[in-house]
Amino acid sequence: MTAGKLDLLKKLWLAPMAEVTDAPFRIISKKFGAGLTFTQMVSAKGVVENEFETLQYLAFSRNEKPIGVQILANNPQTLAHSVSEIRKYSPDVIDLNCGCPVNKVTRCQMGATILDNPKLLGDLVKSMKDVSLGTPISIKMRLGKNKSNISIIENAQIAQKNGADFIIVHARTKEDRYSVEADWNWFSEIKKNIDIPLIGNGSIFSAKDAYNMITETGCDGAMVARGALGNPFIFQRFNELLETGKDPGEPNPLQIKDAAIEHLNLLSREYGEIRAIHRAKKFIIWYFRNNNGISSLIENMIKINDINALKNYIEEHTNKIINDFYPEEDLNEIENSFKKRVLFWLQENKIAATG
Ligand SMILES: Cc1cc2nc3c(=O)[nH]c(=O)nc-3n(C[C@H](O)[C@H](O)[C@H](O)COP(=O)(O)O)c2cc1C
Repeated sequence: MTAGKLDLLKKLWLAPMAEVTDAPFRIISKKFGAGLTFTQMVSAKGVVENEFETLQYLAFSRNEKPIGVQILANNPQTLAHSVSEIRKYSPDVIDLNCGCPVNKVTRCQMGATILDNPKLLGDLVKSMKDVSLGTPISIKMRLGKNKSNISIIENAQIAQKNGADFIIVHARTKEDRYSVEADWNWFSEIKKNIDIPLIGNGSIFSAKDAYNMITETGCDGAMVARGALGNPFIFQRFNELLETGKDPGEPNPLQIKDAAIEHLNLLSREYGEIRAIHRAKKFIIWYFRNNNGISSLIENMIKINDINALKNYIEEHTNKIINDFYPEEDLNEIENSFKKRVLFWLQENKIAATG
């Protein structure tokens, strides 16, 4: 199953995440086997107006391919113009965001609000397709506004009719935001009503979840978001599970440390040491959240302001984990608070795509 040159059958992709899926995050996900990664959403208007920050979010290097780029827009002309510009970077897919529930986006009538206007959705898809010149076009959608207003079948059909090469469905409603379990039952229903490929998204937190989504729901491929935070291993484990039927299991503390340090080095290269250190702390916490000692890590890391000191601290922390130095922690409780923390971060952060 392909879209353009893109092979999307039974692959696990990295979802676009604002303020998260920067180049270091994408590079490490790809290294561990992500089938495709996405830049974070940017506004079509920002692209057309050559806004510095927007173009920075959009930038990727050739060795990151295959890669997708995601746009926010509600005006077909602006969208078409931005697609023509973005094509020059040769991404492997250009996606339209029709799922973002964040106020800053929805009050501009973009993201998930487009789900309520199938005519506009169709016009937007057509405007992209008309200028895409073979670059695959996808639409990332939610199920609908809320449980009483599910519009996914109609919107999926309209996307197909207007030329979308495939759709990505986040199986929650706009009103659900991120809190409830994604409802995977919708995937088979959607598949019955369209011929283009379907990438499923929502509530993948392990390699087995991704495997189940692909083997049991009719989705052609799957896309993980929060489950990949501090966990590039999910891609490797999924690929092995698919190939051999066996999940190689949880990474050991040394493997976690190596990945965290590699991520830190990539951040340092991308942003310079001073900016990298602030950003890196969040990622490092995610890497170690499933191990005892996480409370101590959070407390101690705050005080560190030097990249080499941070690396030394990570080494020390890993050795303590290996030597059972830390008392037992309620890791399930910590995992739940982490999911909430990500959402908090999402609302707090400035989102570059408001135009
Ligand atoms: C921090 C964060 C940022 C996100 N940013 C975007 C974004 O830029 N574009 C988008 O389509 N979805 C965005 N999402 C939604 C995810 O791509 C995904 O659809 C959602 O988290 C459901 O998948 P999950 O249950 O595996 O996390 C974001 C989610 C999170 C947690």
